Amino acid sequence: MLLQDALVPVHIVASSVADYDEDYDGIYEFDDIASVTTSISNSVTNYRFENGRRYHSYKEGQWPVPNDEKQQNQMDLVHQVYTLRLNGRLYLAPLAECPQKILDVGTGTGIWAMEMGDVHPSAIVIGNDLSPIQPRWVPPNVKFEIDDFNEPWVQTPGTYDFVHAREIHGAVSDWPKFCREAYKALKPGGWIEVAESAAQLRSDDGTLPRNCTLNTWLDNLAEGFEKIGHTVVVGPHIGCWLKDAGFRDITVKVFKLPVGIWPKDKTERDIGAFNLLNMIEYVEGASLQIYTQVLKKSLEETKKNIREAQAEFKRKDYHMYIPFYVAYARKPEDYSW
Ligand SMILES: C[S@@+](CC[C@H](N)C(=O)[O-])C[C@H]1O[C@@H](n2cnc3c(N)ncnc32)[C@H](O)[C@@H]1O
Repeated sequence: MLLQDALVPVHIVASSVADYDEDYDGIYEFDDIASVTTSISNSVTNYRFENGRRYHSYKEGQWPVPNDEKQQNQMDLVHQVYTLRLNGRLYLAPLAECPQKILDVGTGTGIWAMEMGDVHPSAIVIGNDLSPIQPRWVPPNVKFEIDDFNEPWVQTPGTYDFVHAREIHGAVSDWPKFCREAYKALKPGGWIEVAESAAQLRSDDGTLPRNCTLNTWLDNLAEGFEKIGHTVVVGPHIGCWLKDAGFRDITVKVFKLPVGIWPKDKTERDIGAFNLLNMIEYVEGASLQIYTQVLKKSLEETKKNIREAQAEFKRKDYHMYIPFYVAYARKPEDYSW
């Protein structure tokens, strides 16, 4: 059964400007962006540099977003935003008490995998990614691998208790196939969880105009990712993709991630503050290659669009939020291939 929950929380109340406090001083101040062009090469750490940013080299060109320290900080901000949103939880799926094997696909900095290893000492947690950007010194039950999740999966079929994928929209070339690979890797009774924000901004009170710069920026970005065959629209379809792959007991929850410090409630405002920092950093990392190489815009125009989007994210009168989907589902005990 597919259970589509209502947006949680249903309504976020905006604060008046007078409510803003010193804790958030400096949140809207950002420096400009560096830009240099350098060179090339080929092996997992022989990174490619372009417009002042560093990109993965294994399976070069698969993922048009940098893997440098700036981007790693952005990924860790995402982790902060999502765990705050989920009240400190790393996942929502009803896992059995002592899972043995957990896979985090597209692990990024590995922060989720490492925290998961702490929470579940019984489990081996494996994180894979195109980029070897994870820490070297990690808990003994956590392991990182270089792998491409768009290729047939190397995991031994039927051996995982939990497959977790977070924030990999724009990276997956074929979601139905991805879900089938996860299904294969899982043990009967094992769980998958996919947590993805929408590439979409909304406001409930009409403060975010449809024709604003931010929406144009997002539309262009979505068009660019579609052009490389990597959709960014995951949340509305993930339940069906999971069902078609054979999963059952499917739940899809949709949360709101405020951007900025407009919410009155302190927790919402903290999420909004972290999310604002996240989005400011994300704008450049997500746009540079897509805009210049896929949409064929000049570097000057790209940088102008980036600056304008960043400036608009800082608008305190836009009570905006991003829908955030968390879907989890179970491989049946009595599955058939
Ligand atoms: C936005 S980051 C999310 C990182 C992490 N899941 C998190 O939530 O913190 C996307 C990650 O997916 C990785 N990635 C993109 N395409 C991939 C592929 N084909 N195979 C493996 N990893 C990939 C990127 O290198 C990047 O680290």
